[in-house]
Amino acid sequence: MVSEQQILEAANEIRRGGLVAFPTETVYGLGANALNAKAVSGIFAMKERPSFDPLIVHISRLESIHQLVEEFDERMLRLAEAFWPGPLTMVVPKSNLVPDIVTAGLSRVGIRMPANDIALRLIEASAVPVAAPSANKFGKLSPTKASHVKKQLPDLKYILDGGNTSIGVESTVVSIENDGFRILRHGAVTADELRKYLPESSEKETQVLKITAPGMMLSHYSPEKPVYILGEHPIPKDTSKAAFLTAGGKVPANYACFEVLSSNFDASEVAVNLFGALHRMEESDCEFIVAEPISETGIGIAVMDRLRKAAYRHHNL
Ligand code: TXA
Ligand code: MG
Repeated sequence: MVSEQQILEAANEIRRGGLVAFPTETVYGLGANALNAKAVSGIFAMKERPSFDPLIVHISRLESIHQLVEEFDERMLRLAEAFWPGPLTMVVPKSNLVPDIVTAGLSRVGIRMPANDIALRLIEASAVPVAAPSANKFGKLSPTKASHVKKQLPDLKYILDGGNTSIGVESTVVSIENDGFRILRHGAVTADELRKYLPESSEKETQVLKITAPGMMLSHYSPEKPVYILGEHPIPKDTSKAAFLTAGGKVPANYACFEVLSSNFDASEVAVNLFGALHRMEESDCEFIVAEPISETGIGIAVMDRLRKAAYRHHNL
């Protein structure tokens, strides 16, 4: 799918201060050399991302974490051994080597090692940590395949095509704090799993990033069309121009089109298919999207979080 030559060319682009989109197991990332503030500013420009939203730094081997953190501690080691490479981002006190632009001026940096061979080879070949947000315009749908990246970032020259991502929703972001841990964003790694490896740490209440534009982060991952969640929003009577996203396989009558995210409410399956379906519905003739909810356990928590953020704008702003 991706040749060694393509990896080397993309790695050279990173080393030159340029941008490269690459697959991870969650969503595609838009990467730059995390230690080069100018390169990182290119990410914010291309994404039209506000400077208050920090980036995740991606590494390909555990040793690389030492240069990025103020202090490496036992809890980080435990989590890294348990979940890396994988969909877990640890937010920890940063070293001086990490430019402020990466962390949006915060004293802590998010770090993860992705479980994707192309991503790991790219980071290895670049020989620098790679800062990468999801490879979409700010606030829009996350990309789970290369064509999604092309659609939103048409000017980007380097896109490594690794096919469909295997998890489909962004990593769990966990903040490791002196007196406990806190989930900042839900993903495939659940609070229950984290608790097993942090038995001495109490879990603090989930918190979304404090930002200067109130309400903004509640609206995220948004398609251009209104999204309704069954049971949470009143559904317009006339659905003859609407799309239905089913998680259980059954589509009610009177919808123009539908997407089967899962035939039996399997949350992992829904996660894998969610953004792809929303991208297709965005491009379709349907006027709005109605989604069937799933139960909020395991990765179902992340799925419902993304759906609510996709729906937020239409119902609140
Ligand atoms: O799965 C993922 O995490 C993907 C792939 C590409 O790795 N990346 C991703 O990045 O979703 P992005 O930028 O779209 O979302 C990262 C989020 C930020 O919006 C913020 O909420 C949180 O992670 N975050 C990152 N660094 C942080 C920090 N220092 N403090 C608090 N939150 C942070
Ligand atoms: Mg994103």
